Amino acid sequence: MNPEARKPFIAGNWKMNKTVAEARKLALEIKNGTLNESDDVEILICPPFGSLYPVSEVLKGSAVKLGAQNCYWEKNGAFTGEMSPPMIRELGCDYTIVGHSERRSYFRETDEWVSKKARALLDVGVSPIVCVGEVLQDREGGRTNDVVRGQVLGSLDGLTSEDMLRVVLAYEPVWAIGTGKTASPEQAQEVHAFMRNILIDLYGLDVALRVRIQYGGSVKPENVTALMGQPDIDGALVGGASLEAASFLKLVSFKTGGID
Ligand code: 13P
Repeated sequence: MNPEARKPFIAGNWKMNKTVAEARKLALEIKNGTLNESDDVEILICPPFGSLYPVSEVLKGSAVKLGAQNCYWEKNGAFTGEMSPPMIRELGCDYTIVGHSERRSYFRETDEWVSKKARALLDVGVSPIVCVGEVLQDREGGRTNDVVRGQVLGSLDGLTSEDMLRVVLAYEPVWAIGTGKTASPEQAQEVHAFMRNILIDLYGLDVALRVRIQYGGSVKPENVTALMGQPDIDGALVGGASLEAASFLKLVSFKTGGID
């Protein structure tokens, strides 16, 4: 394995939090707090739709990248309440999260939808962050690998090797999201390695070794360094701890122990 090929990637998923004013303030704190950050870590923040443009203005001149949390797959049309990939691109987003477990459970998103969204994003030059992960009953029932395999195959359906080099995967065990219950570094590594093996089967070793797989689920400054130390964990997709500049900045500096 050649981890050099995979730049560590720390992303904040703000979910449905922060007013526009709060989002601008947090983005500015993150921008200022990362000015001296070396460029060997990629940093992303994903505010709610209404804050994307204001935050893009704040981030100008910064290495911190901007992402959306969802999209629809059509370019435009009568799809009330949705945002299209070209609109997201225009707002300055380099990434968009797709298939988050909250969207899969509350909004009934299927793997097929996730794959359509990923395709549409790639077509306009936005990289999808494709999320997968099992619920507690699946883990306890010994079905983690089957569930994760099904989601990976379904969500990446139709994507080529060339596409995959612009896709990021995120393993987010649903039982670890917002619960304070992190998967242990070993538990997470086991699934990440399993996912990379699926990528090897689908796209070959060379591509599989270049795809980044983030871990998400109660990532905090206290556990980020151990998680990032695992060979197949290439980044973190962070909810709660990304909502305060102090904790997010500690996550970004995970190499020095996650603590200032
Ligand atoms: P928490 O970090 O709050 O557990 O959320 C994880 C997540 O869902 C990121 O997408």
